Amino acid sequence: MRNDPPSARAIEARKSRHLDICLDDDVASRLDAGFDGVRLRHEALPEIALEDVDTSRSFLGHHLAAPLLISSMTGGTQRAAAINRNLALAAERCGVGLALGSQRAALADSTLLPTYRVREVAADVVLFANLGAVQFNYGMTIDDARRAVADIGANGLYLHLNPLQEALQPRGDTNFRDLWPHIARLTRSLEVPVIVKSVGSGLSVDTARRLLEAGVAALDVAGAGGTSWARVEGRRANDDQHEALAETFGGWGYPTLEATVALRAAFPDATIVASGGVRSGVDVAKALALGADMAGAALPFLEPATRSADAVAALLDFFIRGFRIALFASGCRTVTDLPNALQRRGSLATESVAPST
Ligand SMILES: Cc1cc2nc3c(=O)[nH]c(=O)nc-3n(C[C@H](O)[C@H](O)[C@H](O)COP(=O)(O)O)c2cc1C
Repeated sequence: MRNDPPSARAIEARKSRHLDICLDDDVASRLDAGFDGVRLRHEALPEIALEDVDTSRSFLGHHLAAPLLISSMTGGTQRAAAINRNLALAAERCGVGLALGSQRAALADSTLLPTYRVREVAADVVLFANLGAVQFNYGMTIDDARRAVADIGANGLYLHLNPLQEALQPRGDTNFRDLWPHIARLTRSLEVPVIVKSVGSGLSVDTARRLLEAGVAALDVAGAGGTSWARVEGRRANDDQHEALAETFGGWGYPTLEATVALRAAFPDATIVASGGVRSGVDVAKALALGADMAGAALPFLEPATRSADAVAALLDFFIRGFRIALFASGCRTVTDLPNALQRRGSLATESVAPST
């Protein structure tokens, strides 16, 4: 089945409604991302000063002050222009990365491009473009993807995989046939790295393997436990039966930390971003302790971004200070020490204090 492509105005209206729903409604996944079940070691004698902690990390060749990315949210509506500028200004000031929302609307109507153009206010922010992989089955070409990157001066491209969301979206783009060859061609053709993500349902090891074989530079698990796109689409339907259907998928997918651990175990050398339900610097530290290279968060930054760049920067500061303190209090001087900082069962006992037998 092939739908007529929606007009840019229809996409713009949908994007604006997504913002309202995410700002006003409860759209949290019914699954637990897993952060409460993980504890980091407490080091009462860290033998370093808080200021000695180095929170920086390199991601796909770019230096970041902390291993944090504001995940893709918006673009393509006039409201998004201010939101994206506030996100970009704050991300640049605080030294974290930023992924923009899907640029499909701007590919359909170039007058919407300014809603994504943040380089004018944040020349040095580490910036990622965003497109849906399924659009390859609805007319999008490799040249379109290249243009989406060039239009905003991006350092890489996020490609999202959202079959559940499209299936629950009225007139969604549900033809996911034979996308792998397109993804493989894209990774070979683009001059910038391609990162593939889910949008709140996670990636399995088998899917991740196929994506790595297609040449993707990094995987973003975008797991369950944070924003649920099934629930967002349910709210948008204005139809009780459709909303009830969408709600049955409120607990769908692989929880963020479970997926992160599985992918790291299967692919020791892959670059992995953990996102979905990351809500503090302690969560970022836990994700990295379990094997992620970076963490990402979207929804918490939306409301501050509707106010000002300062409001976004204040929330980034909350994340980064929390992350620094988590490293300090678990005895980690650098981000690479974190995998040793998991609190293990029985870790309170050591040979020297254990009763002799
Ligand atoms: C308002 C909003 C819009 C989003 N739009 C996109 C998008 O255009 N492309 C995309 O890949 N992900 C999009 N996402 C998904 C997020 O990037 C992220 O994967 C998901 O929300 C889970 O992270 P969170 O729990 O921190 O919100 C959007 C999320 C929100 C809250």
